[in-house]
Amino acid sequence: MNELAGKHIVLGLSGGVACYKAADLCRQLIKEGATVQVVMTEAAEQFITPVTMQALSGRPVYGSQWDAREPNNMPHINLSRVADAVLIAPCSADFIARLVQGRADELLSLLCLARPAQQVPLLLAPAMNREMWAHPATQRNLAQVAQDGAVVLGVGNGDQACGETGDGRMLEPLELLDELIAFFAPKRLVGHKVLVTAGPTFEAMDPVRGITNLSSGKMGFAIARAAREAGADVTLVAGPVHLPTPRGVRRVNVQSAQEMLSAVERHVQAATVFIATAAVADWRPSSASAQKIKKDGSGNAPALAFTENPDILAIVAKSAHALEGDLFCVGFAAESHDLLAHATAKRTRKGVPLLVGNIGPAAFGQDDNALLLVDADGHRELPRASKRVLAQQLVEEIALRVPSRRARVSD
Ligand code: CTP
Repeated sequence: MNELAGKHIVLGLSGGVACYKAADLCRQLIKEGATVQVVMTEAAEQFITPVTMQALSGRPVYGSQWDAREPNNMPHINLSRVADAVLIAPCSADFIARLVQGRADELLSLLCLARPAQQVPLLLAPAMNREMWAHPATQRNLAQVAQDGAVVLGVGNGDQACGETGDGRMLEPLELLDELIAFFAPKRLVGHKVLVTAGPTFEAMDPVRGITNLSSGKMGFAIARAAREAGADVTLVAGPVHLPTPRGVRRVNVQSAQEMLSAVERHVQAATVFIATAAVADWRPSSASAQKIKKDGSGNAPALAFTENPDILAIVAKSAHALEGDLFCVGFAAESHDLLAHATAKRTRKGVPLLVGNIGPAAFGQDDNALLLVDADGHRELPRASKRVLAQQLVEEIALRVPSRRARVSD
């Protein structure tokens, strides 16, 4: 989607097996529209060659502060002045220690030290053995570099090249890409706690069957991601969908509408924004059979009775928390026709300040959609675009309608 278009990234590699992942990371950054200047330490060149990184980035790699290709012979100045960010991936334990000490005896640490820190952020993707990661010296150094202004990205957990298992693996290239995109996103919802419902619900008839719908959860997941990128603390209550959890988002899996309501009730008190994107089943079988319902040979279908499910959005919108103005509620409306009329009526019926209408059959399962925003002042269309873009636009619209909580955060 070219989310990094116009961004120039200095990708620094220090020594570690995870250098092999840096090759893919470089490709992913370029695929998202960034230009990438690779800088490698001598140790990194033991793990992957500059030839590979040059081929992938389309630019000669720098590895020495004595590189005579620069007319002024100052690559540490020239490369750092034009960067939008410096990302060290992999960032070894040794390199972190070097940053802490402000060492400048090789190009990459020299460049980090010489960069204009206010304009060029430094992001670190640590990669090391679990014992090295857990060592107090490393943890002390990480705390220090963070205090000095670096953004320390997390590490993964799992099998390590040494055969051990634990914390310290470098994040995967796509995870790092998401982190970088999130880093550049405008922080419009800092201090907010956003609760999102997404996906369908599944209402059991018996242990193997149930009632559900075609909601894919894509819109809700995209909104959760965009809200987190905007700086919010995000909890996503998800019905049964096969979608990866957006990075940094807390996910609570549920099946039925009643489970969704309980999960929402558990988290809503702390929330400042509630976004109900879930396609909650309107009815559930009145009693689910404990055993599989068998055909009785008569040719007749079993007679099922249904009970209406609780309206989660309406319940939340009527709570004291929302009525006192501490919770901004956003509803969705999946309609098949007369979108504006239905969405306007639904906004009033549900008692929410903002209702987002869409044509259900054209939206379910698709990667793109078109939205109609209805509030007390009227309506506004968000034309057809990817759900990712629409989610970013919707988060922007919500941020315009909720009080800024930046000041409270720094209290
Ligand atoms: N919703 C909810 N709980 C329900 C039903 C709906 O929280 N039991 C929320 C949805 O997440 C959405 C909004 O209410 O934000 C509207 O959902 P929709 O299915 O379009 O409307 P319904 O209330 O079910 O009305 P109808 O089916 O008559 O259009």
